[in-house]
Amino acid sequence: MNKPTPLVDQFQRRITYLRLSVTDRCDLRCTYCMPERMTFLPRREVLSLEELHQMALGFIDRGITKLRLTGGEPLVRRDMLELVHALGRKLGDGLEELTMTTNGTRLADFADDLYAAGMRRINVSLDTLDRGMFETLSRRDSLPQVLEGLAAAKAAGLKVKINTVALKGINEDQLSGLIAWAHGEGFDLTLIEVMPLGEVEGDRIDHYLPLIAVQDTLERDWTLVPSDHRSGGPARYFDVAETGGRLGLITPLTNNFCAGCNRIRVTATGQLYACLGGEERVDLRAALRSDEPERRLSEALDTAMRIKPERHHFAIDERGQSPALARHMSMTGG
Ligand code: GTP
Ligand code: 5AD
Ligand code: SF4
Repeated sequence: MNKPTPLVDQFQRRITYLRLSVTDRCDLRCTYCMPERMTFLPRREVLSLEELHQMALGFIDRGITKLRLTGGEPLVRRDMLELVHALGRKLGDGLEELTMTTNGTRLADFADDLYAAGMRRINVSLDTLDRGMFETLSRRDSLPQVLEGLAAAKAAGLKVKINTVALKGINEDQLSGLIAWAHGEGFDLTLIEVMPLGEVEGDRIDHYLPLIAVQDTLERDWTLVPSDHRSGGPARYFDVAETGGRLGLITPLTNNFCAGCNRIRVTATGQLYACLGGEERVDLRAALRSDEPERRLSEALDTAMRIKPERHHFAIDERGQSPALARHMSMTGG
């Protein structure tokens, strides 16, 4: 059999990182992410465990070396651990890294098993350490569970990166404190600009905080030394001299990182989106459910390489317009 060709798009970018959303459901309702009464997908639309597994194997055959499980909240899916174990068996056999982005609410129950399955690093979303503000932001009083989950992850030996969405007038003045706390715990921390994805109740522009401004403010408290470190994602890193920890900035709106894009994403229904900020997609579920799933899947990946756009086009402009893409982050998985 011929060796499968690696995934390279029209702009000569080598695609090696798959973000796979295993569910669009979540146990939190972060205000910038989704409305309180979010409509989730009917379960029959969502790929089965076997389909997710088969699809991931097809990607690994085509040169995907890093696989991140996302959601929604991946750990709310019941058969999630089975999937992690199945994928863990590919580590060292095509797959270099198996990782996850989680909100942490259920980590206390899962951390040991994730480590046992071969996971070594996870990203945990946390925007504030203030219980009341956490409840206001996520519409759930779950900070204690998240902190318990983080302690369990650390005890299990998982490396943790905290993801914090920087929000003007909300957690803006807590960012310095979050850095001190995270680095004290031995966690890296990455700040993210809020992106216009899906309708929510408020207007995100009210809370949009360009990280260039944040960096200036943080430099009053910390010495930020630009670092060459790369985690394979879109973050640019700094070493914080005072803590010895790492600070990442993800700035899709103020600084476009698309030229170095190495990733594609698949929704829980098997739609491959070539870009987080675009509509270009290929239906992998149809390929998986066809008579020749392997061939059709591989062809679908070739199509994805042809349609992957050069860059995303979302923006929050000076007049405060933010033409939201219809999809929520919880659908595409970031
Ligand atoms: P590392 O492997 O630790 O580098 O992770 P990562 O930054 O790739 O993944 P994570 O799930 O922690 O994502 C952090 C944030 O970056 C999320 O809000 C994602 O939606 C966002 N992000 C990831 N990839 C892209 C991308 O291609 N474009 C844009 N605009 N944002 C992205
Ligand atoms: N803009 C930026 N980040 C978002 N997240 C969810 N919705 C948005 C948005 N509209 C973040 C979560 C999590 C990560 C996967 O995406 O807080 O850290
Ligand atoms: Fe859930 Fe993450 Fe969206 Fe918050 S940001 S509602 S934790 S998917």
